[in-house]
Amino acid sequence: MWYSAASHFFYFSYCTHRNLHGGIPVYAAPAKASALIDESQIKEEPLKELAEFAVLQQTPLSSLQKLQYPFSDFPEDYYNVQLKDRELCINQFTGDILAQQDYTTTYQLANFSLRWHTGRSGTIWALIMALASAYILFFIYSGFAITLKRRRGRSKNKFKAKDARIIILVGSENGGTFKFADAIYTQLIKHGEKVFLSDLSNFAAFPNAEHLVIMTSTYGQGDAPSNAKKLADRIQQYSQKQDIQFSIVGFGSRSYRQFCQFAFDVATLLQSTKWAKALMPVFTVNDKSPQDFSDWLTEWTRQTGFNMMMPRKLLEPDTTELKKVSVTSRTVPDEESSFMIRLKSLKLRHAVSGDLLAIYPKNDHRERLYSIGKIGKEMQLSVKLHEHGLGSGFLNNLQQGDQIKVKLVKNQHFRFPKRAKKSSWYPTERVLHPSWE
Ligand SMILES: Cc1cc2nc3c(=O)[nH]c(=O)nc-3n(C[C@H](O)[C@H](O)[C@H](O)COP(=O)(O)O)c2cc1C
Repeated sequence: MWYSAASHFFYFSYCTHRNLHGGIPVYAAPAKASALIDESQIKEEPLKELAEFAVLQQTPLSSLQKLQYPFSDFPEDYYNVQLKDRELCINQFTGDILAQQDYTTTYQLANFSLRWHTGRSGTIWALIMALASAYILFFIYSGFAITLKRRRGRSKNKFKAKDARIIILVGSENGGTFKFADAIYTQLIKHGEKVFLSDLSNFAAFPNAEHLVIMTSTYGQGDAPSNAKKLADRIQQYSQKQDIQFSIVGFGSRSYRQFCQFAFDVATLLQSTKWAKALMPVFTVNDKSPQDFSDWLTEWTRQTGFNMMMPRKLLEPDTTELKKVSVTSRTVPDEESSFMIRLKSLKLRHAVSGDLLAIYPKNDHRERLYSIGKIGKEMQLSVKLHEHGLGSGFLNNLQQGDQIKVKLVKNQHFRFPKRAKKSSWYPTERVLHPSWE
């Protein structure tokens, strides 16, 4: 950090110390050494070989920045030597120093900064700079990729936030909740309503809003998904001028102890404001169940009077991101009814330990998530067989060579951070959960 800040400062001062005319840098300071040459003092004897010039013998090559040979045999032409700390003009016949200009500290620092910024100070540094640049490009790309994934299939807002009567705000990590929100948005727009849909973190002033619909998933251990982390601060920042009726739909999974916890937290936040009026209690949707969502929609339309139907596309299983995997081996359930199953897929090579594999035992919305242990190129799942268990029963019926379709769910929350001051691991029923600061 300190290096970056300091070098940017020096680079800035370097830039402000020079003017660019037609691409040729003209340095305001220091003055050129050639301006200090006294031509009446130039001699042509004693004649020396270049290798005999004392000044060159005493100058280590490492301090040399630039050497310019004389243009002609005229005594007025000289060797121009630019070192790290000064510039010299050297008589081409005798090797005498005709003029010398010491660089100011600011100029040297600016020069140093330029070399570091442009990677000119050595091969290793140039390689580090190249790698750093590649990393920056990678982060720009991955940032866009994550945003695009979340936005894929989303409608573009027809109305601005300030004009909309209905505001739909969505909290989502992997885009699933957006599919539900988008289907509602499209229907309302078709019915001529002024609707605005956005991320929960984009909560702002909504001067014409009458209805606020919040649809949000829960992640981590009852936490907000990444596009909803700023919500609490935003609610503090933007107090609405008029009363707004709100309804919250929590998307989650009952296999987590804090089922839809973040949706309930948002309700508490809103209830603490003067302007937000709850239209109905928080509704929850387990495992993206269309039936649960339909229950909310029925109640919301009844309360608001909007003419809405359950969108058909939410009833069909979403097959867009499914990839084929084949079973390479498996064990039989042990005395505790646990077994291991190994899967392989060229398309899921990028999965890492801790990511999740979503399986769809009945080819419908019902999704079961299993934590992946990466072993070589294969993904290993550790499964506890439950009596009548939908996911575990399905996996237990698979044999070596069978193929199934799955979805990879990246689990950023589980990945070990590059820098952690402290980490601890605590066991729950079947897995070790990490936590770090
Ligand atoms: C790593 C991880 C953690 C989760 N934690 C919870 C949780 O604490 N409570 C919950 O109800 N659901 C939890 N879920 C389930 C998601 O909220 C649920 O699958 C939701 O539909 C995902 O919606 P999205 O695709 O819009 O992010 C978790 C899912 C994952 C992958």
